[in-house]
Amino acid sequence: MGIADIVLLAVRWLHVLAAAALVGGCMFYLLNLRLAAPKGSSGVEAERFQQVKSQRSKLVEGFLAIIVASGLVLGLDRLARAEVNGVYLALLGLKLLLAAGTLALVRRLAPGGWGAVRGQLPARPVSSSASNLMLVLGAATFLVSLLLRAVFEAALRRG
Ligand code: HEM
Repeated sequence: MGIADIVLLAVRWLHVLAAAALVGGCMFYLLNLRLAAPKGSSGVEAERFQQVKSQRSKLVEGFLAIIVASGLVLGLDRLARAEVNGVYLALLGLKLLLAAGTLALVRRLAPGGWGAVRGQLPARPVSSSASNLMLVLGAATFLVSLLLRAVFEAALRRG
């Protein structure tokens, strides 16, 4: 296993870790959002709630950047390989559509990302259908990612 293989392994590990943290973490955050949202307007509660939200939005932006950057590295590596066939490319296209939908929902559900005004509460309550859709898209993205690897490895075995 050469240096390039070790670097790619580290990039894949970072990619999977950030993806799991973002999609899985978002679910628990939304649950807490509903349970912990301040009732009435006690200053201390609202202040603590805002601190949680801004910390979270910084994490979201960090994971988003890691997922996209590592995904581009993995993508460029794969696309440079002769084993990549039409099925792989079609699956990668589907994966990118699903990933874009998931990541867009993650950002919509927890404002505070790029261009958002820090500290503002969401304009409207977080709907369970939106968070459920984010989870379904996230799970589908994971599944298609595993399929991508299976298709690539099958092409590798066929030589
Ligand atoms: C919610 C967003 C995302 C999730 C949940 C996700 C999940 C994953 C997982 C779990 C793998 C590893 C599969 C394995 O090694 O068995 C993977 C691989 C990969 N991801 Fe992502 N990813 C996401 C976003 C992205 C984005 C935005 C890109 C491109 C910019 C991308 C490109 C790739 C590529 C090229 C691979 C390698 C596939 C292969 O083994 O051939 N991913 N992803």
